[in-house]
Amino acid sequence: MSKYAWCLVVTMFYGISAVAQNYEAKVDSIMSLMTLQEKIGQTVMYGGSWDQTGPIVGVDNGKYIIEGNMGAMLNAMSVKGTRDLQKLAVEESRLGIPLLFGYDVIHGHRTIFPINLGLSASWDLKMIEESSRIAAEEASAEGLHWTFAPMVDVSREPRWGRISEGAGEDVYLSSEIAKAYVRGFQGDDLSLPNTILACAKHYVAYGAAQAGRDYHTVNMGEGELRNVYLPPFKATVDAGVETFMSAFNELNGVPTSGNKFTLRDILRDEWNFKGFVVSDYTSINEMIPHGFAKDSTDAARIGMNSGVDMDMMGHVYRKHLKTLVEEGKVSEDYINDACRRILLAKFKLGLFDNPYRYIDEERENTTKYKPEFLAKAREIAAASSVLLQNNNNALPIDKNIKSIAFIGPLVKDEYDILGNWAAKGDRNGKAVSVFEGASEYLKPNQILYAKGCDILKEDESGFNEAISISKQADEIVLVMGEGHHMSGEAASRTNLKIPGIQPRLIQKIREANPNKKITLVLMNGRPLNLSEEIKTVDAILEVWFPGTMGGAATADLLFGTVNPSGKLTVTFPRNVGQVPIYYNMKNTGRPIPENNPNEDYKSNYIDVPNTPLFVFGHGLSYTKFAYADLKLSTHQMTFSNTITASVEITNTGNYDGYEIVQLYIRDKVGSVTRPVKELKGFEKIFLKKGESKVVTFTISVDTLKFYNSEMKYTVEPGEFEIAIAPSSDFKFKHIFTLN
Ligand code: BGC
Repeated sequence: MSKYAWCLVVTMFYGISAVAQNYEAKVDSIMSLMTLQEKIGQTVMYGGSWDQTGPIVGVDNGKYIIEGNMGAMLNAMSVKGTRDLQKLAVEESRLGIPLLFGYDVIHGHRTIFPINLGLSASWDLKMIEESSRIAAEEASAEGLHWTFAPMVDVSREPRWGRISEGAGEDVYLSSEIAKAYVRGFQGDDLSLPNTILACAKHYVAYGAAQAGRDYHTVNMGEGELRNVYLPPFKATVDAGVETFMSAFNELNGVPTSGNKFTLRDILRDEWNFKGFVVSDYTSINEMIPHGFAKDSTDAARIGMNSGVDMDMMGHVYRKHLKTLVEEGKVSEDYINDACRRILLAKFKLGLFDNPYRYIDEERENTTKYKPEFLAKAREIAAASSVLLQNNNNALPIDKNIKSIAFIGPLVKDEYDILGNWAAKGDRNGKAVSVFEGASEYLKPNQILYAKGCDILKEDESGFNEAISISKQADEIVLVMGEGHHMSGEAASRTNLKIPGIQPRLIQKIREANPNKKITLVLMNGRPLNLSEEIKTVDAILEVWFPGTMGGAATADLLFGTVNPSGKLTVTFPRNVGQVPIYYNMKNTGRPIPENNPNEDYKSNYIDVPNTPLFVFGHGLSYTKFAYADLKLSTHQMTFSNTITASVEITNTGNYDGYEIVQLYIRDKVGSVTRPVKELKGFEKIFLKKGESKVVTFTISVDTLKFYNSEMKYTVEPGEFEIAIAPSSDFKFKHIFTLN
């Protein structure tokens, strides 16, 4: 195209975008200038060289950008990096269409918040929204337009490393949290330069991988799919999420990156999703080893026909789609739809107004690690921690104590503490370790330290020093757990114990100090089997991987400046053999009788109880909360009225604190069996010591709906049990009837 024509096109882009509203018409006018291959180019995403999570397939980025063969890039960022790349697209490609830059901004970008499983344990939607708002501020200041988050995969599989990236096992809570992330990343106005596109991933059922092995097969009935795994995705559509990512796993024999049923029938036709779908990293190509596509041409055909609009890293769309259209194997309409959706996203971001609007040196330099972001990260990390056990009131620790021994491989850690998927979080000295955090409270002569051992190495040579300092101290704090690489992608484990020789060291320290208070601070990315540790130590504080300010937040909790309030969003099993174990299981035809737990021929194990070690919703506080009896506005609900359930909660202990109040319901008889309990609401309240508050939930017909055997979303008349409780460990006492 001549220079003159090129200018005309660009002027036209900027000209039309001045009248910002009617994006569709603008997209159409651009598309009328595009060749088929250029439209295909918009459906192609390649990677920069920053981070890779898979193989790089023949990268020649500059060339592809100039040819118009690339619409988006992942793992390319920084003002300088994105400016150079954007310049190529805008000034050297025929049509000058700007690139979209995406990255895994998962739990923070520079300022790192707790891993997502930890964030979910705050049950604090406002905080979660704030965390993703800050992440969007920082990411957009480095030229990014798009995050591959939130991951909204429900998972009941602690062996699966990616359980760390989600919001746990519950459908309702995961759905609420999913919406909060989307609100935080996208804000109210995508055209602002500090908002970015969110991406609901991994669509779908990835969290149900067989035996917890990553990328593994998923077989499940449509009822379970619709009742458990789809709702958080639907919630993101309701919240206006702009993009979706198809997954790696197959679902009932059909890979989810080639699954017309989930991608077109459900996502487009049922849910009316208008944004675009990107594949996961080479997941279109992976349909070949799945045994679903015979070669890469076939994979491209299946991917596009099934509804994947953009090919992440696979190169199969660029190479094959044009021929497939010419041969009539892929409809050109599908390419047009995909291209239109991607261009629309670029319009919404304002990239046609100014492709460099996210590229601003000053903003880049002044945005990262702002003091207010760090303060928020500290507050959120404390709110995300869960006090699992606190025997003998081991916590909080009096900061006037004579001495504390801090022992363990994670005491001084500033690296693992950020957890997996820590984006551009600085692992070299930016994070606050637990040691540093504790030093804010204690004088040097009050702190003794020994590493004791490594996370994984079988080397006991540090044991003696650790035992010796433990004997000198008045109290002991162990900081142990997993390495950050032990959860996240491709990090499944078959053993859920605290790794390496750490459990042995804990044992030895207890033997040497039979009467001292021992607290175990745990950093990890999944539910662990703590069956031994609950007997050995007094207190267990689960801080997950708490992020940049994690050590400071942990110290705030240890010394009682902040009262723990987090509660588990995932069940902790007694051992790996109980897995999958989650609170809202089905009852079976032979449940264990309450009055005779050892009765034979019941659905139980002969070696461990059915109950987990720590239930969903569990989390202690330094204070106590008393729940008065529940009151229902009426016991008779009709299809047209709502009822309310309320309970008075009193802080009866000695500290002010937050309590997470949970509403559970059981649909007693259904046309398909229903779970033994289901979370249907929650509220986080603050009570000063001695204070009481009434918490009220409204129950409507919508609260009670589920997918029946005909896959109708419906509610059935009958009896419902109801409870408001501090965790999922309670027995129902109240009933209402719907008719
Ligand atoms: C992961 C995605 C991630 C993508 C891009 C894949 O390996 O499954 O969650 O967004 O890489 O980094």
